[in-house]
Formats: sequence, C-alpha cells, structure tokens
Amino acid sequence: MKDISIAIDGPASSGKSTVAKILAKDYGYIYIDTGAMYRAVTYLALAKKISVETEELLIQAIEKQPISFQASENGQQVFVGDENVTEAIRQNDVTNLVSTVAAKSLVRTALVKLQQEFGKNGGVVMDGRDIGTVVLPKAEVKIFLVASVEERAERRYKENIAKKIPTDFEILKEEIARRDYLDSTREISPLVQAEDAVLLDTTGLNIEEVVGEIKKIIIEKTR
Ligand code: DC
Repeated sequence: MKDISIAIDGPASSGKSTVAKILAKDYGYIYIDTGAMYRAVTYLALAKKISVETEELLIQAIEKQPISFQASENGQQVFVGDENVTEAIRQNDVTNLVSTVAAKSLVRTALVKLQQEFGKNGGVVMDGRDIGTVVLPKAEVKIFLVASVEERAERRYKENIAKKIPTDFEILKEEIARRDYLDSTREISPLVQAEDAVLLDTTGLNIEEVVGEIKKIIIEKTR
C-alpha cells in the first residue's frame, strides 16, 4: 500500500487515539495526536499563568517552547520545549480548560499549520476533531468515530483509574457531555463529520473490532 493519510475524528473518548496508535504501528506510519497539542498549549497557559483570553501571548509562549512528539518504550511522549508533559496534559486541570483554548482562532491557526507540516509527506495517522475537514482535507481515508456518552465515560473512567487519576464517574460523564457541546458548537472548525468520512459507531465494539472495521475501510478506499 502506498503511504496514505488516515484522518480519524470524533468526540472525546470515542477511542480515536487507541485505534490510531494501533493503525500507525501496523502500517509503520507516524501517529499525531492533535488533541495532545491543544492540551500542551493549555498546559503552558496554566504553567505560565497566561490567560487564555490573551491568545497572542499564548502563541508567543508556544513559539519559544515548541510542541514535539518523541517515540519511547513507554509510548509516544509529548514535549513542550524540553519539558516532558505527557502525564501533565492528562490531568483534570488541563482537561477542563482545553475546550476553551481549542476554540481560540490564533491557537487553531498555529496548531493546524504545525499539524499540516507533520502530515505533509503522508504515511500518517492523525486524530482529532477537524482532521478530515480542515487539517488534511485530502486524506485518502477519513473515519468519524462515535460512541454513546455512557460508554465513552466508562472507557475514560477505566483509563483514569489505571493512571491513578482520581475520578468521579458522574462528574466525568457530565464533563464529556460538556466538551462534546463546546467542541461541536464552537464557531471555528467545530466537530463535524467530513462529507467523505465514514461514520463508525463503536458502542459495544472492542478495540480489535474497531481496528478490523477501519482496516476494511482502508482496503476499500485504497483499492
Ligand atoms: O482528544 P482530546 O480529548 O485529547 O482533545 C482535547 C481537546 O482539544 C478537546 O476539547 C477538543 C480539542 N481538539 C480540537 O479542537 N481539535 C483537534 N484537532 C483535536 C482536539
């Protein structure tokens, strides 16, 4: 198979990053977690006490300490400058603020540019909210992953407990619903399915089944 671009979009905790990582490994592609990039900007805003309302200052801070990814034995690591923020960006303070940061136009312009740079040679699996619509509109394969709020909350709850992040299930569910709302109603690049994306509802499916379905779609789209 020639090196293609695979765009995976969908709401929070729909399983995007788990399946994207497996696909990238199986095809020998690079994996770009664009949600991690919005989280990294949010982390920087909190760490440097930069108000999210002062977008220019946030962009300047990111220019001074660029976001990068590095492969490691423990999975992909996310850096802001030379600081490893892989764990910090998954904490509740970042999670609760990230939708607000991701709605800022200058932040989006800067990150989309970087994401397009990362994806320019193909051989990439990129996941997020606007990959098929804005970042890689020419991606050969576009998947829109959805699952019920209940099931997504259960998945995230298990992940958090495994990572020892204190979590209340009902609060988590409300937060996921709130992020869905913010991500899909924001003015710039809201979460919408690209016209040419394939909708896949993963409610009740395990990871292997989801990966299997996507591989079938990839074969069909590239034949
Ligand atoms: O996938 P995630 O939960 O790590 O995403 C974090 C936030 O970033 C989420 O509120 C949506 C936003 N996001 C976005 O607006 N565009 C993307 N391409 C990826 C994530």
